[in-house]
Amino acid sequence: MATIRDVAKRAGVSVATVSRVLNETGYVHADTKAAVIKAIKELNYKPNYVARSLYKKSSRLIGLILPDITNPFFPELARAVEDVAHQYGYTVVLCNSDGDLEKEKNYLDVLTQNHADGLIVTTNRQNNMNYIDLDIPVVALDRTLHESIPEVRADHYGGGKMATELLIQRGCTFIAHVRGPSQLGPADERCRGFVNAAEQAGIAYHIVESQFDIPISEQTVSELLDTYPQIDGIFAGNDLIAVAAVKVALKRGISIPEELQVVGFDGIPLSACFYPAITTIVQPIYEMGKWATELLIQLITKKNIAAKTHCFPVKLAERETTKRMG
Ligand code: RIB
Repeated sequence: MATIRDVAKRAGVSVATVSRVLNETGYVHADTKAAVIKAIKELNYKPNYVARSLYKKSSRLIGLILPDITNPFFPELARAVEDVAHQYGYTVVLCNSDGDLEKEKNYLDVLTQNHADGLIVTTNRQNNMNYIDLDIPVVALDRTLHESIPEVRADHYGGGKMATELLIQRGCTFIAHVRGPSQLGPADERCRGFVNAAEQAGIAYHIVESQFDIPISEQTVSELLDTYPQIDGIFAGNDLIAVAAVKVALKRGISIPEELQVVGFDGIPLSACFYPAITTIVQPIYEMGKWATELLIQLITKKNIAAKTHCFPVKLAERETTKRMG
């Protein structure tokens, strides 16, 4: 295997010059640089990335911390992060925390010890102080970490309101919100939008808490419909909860959307493939991941950033779990 000395010999320069080219430090004449790059290619020289990252305190790694890769929302985010990072020559290290603070802290330590250049974090543990005093840039994605940390998210409050107003417009008289976990920013905001729209319309409503998980939500929805069989509209905290709601209703012989209307949140591909296709509030998932990665790379490369927080609008996708107008 070729060494840095072999490259230096082939290019007719010193080892220090090859090192300057590799590390992009100090002045190297363009012709010398071209000769070094040519020698690297001819010898198929692979720099020692561990040694390089120790020296430069940079690894061109981006850590992506996600709470649950089994929720299809997160692979779509990860795909965007990976696409953009790759374009800029960064490698993404995917860390699935399972919403477990200790596991998340462990990943954080490993990433910082290995000189990750920056982090994109979607944590279920908001207000944890682990990210405040890091030496590397952090971008919070779909969650709030701290006022000092830039954030990319969607309009959860507006989406919650939009979903609820649709149920009301389509004739529901007693609506329920099967919400995501409390203390989780997006779930709290969607719930606030629901309450606001229901209160404004003066309609009867009920709220139950679930998890962003199909089996748990099936149980929650079953209990809800046992207690309140008159419910004719459900705003589900995300598409997985919506899938659970539709499944429970159909198993009970409740027709959708005639007797029960359901609106989800996220716009994951499953929501359109499911039968009946789920009416949902679509977050621009890929765009959010892309924006967060571009923002992080601007911070890593010390560019001025226009705004620290970016809130994407959401939109309604009307499908088969709500009634049509007229
Ligand atoms: O934690 C999972 C949920 O948070 C996703 O389904 C999406 O709604 C995100 O905001």
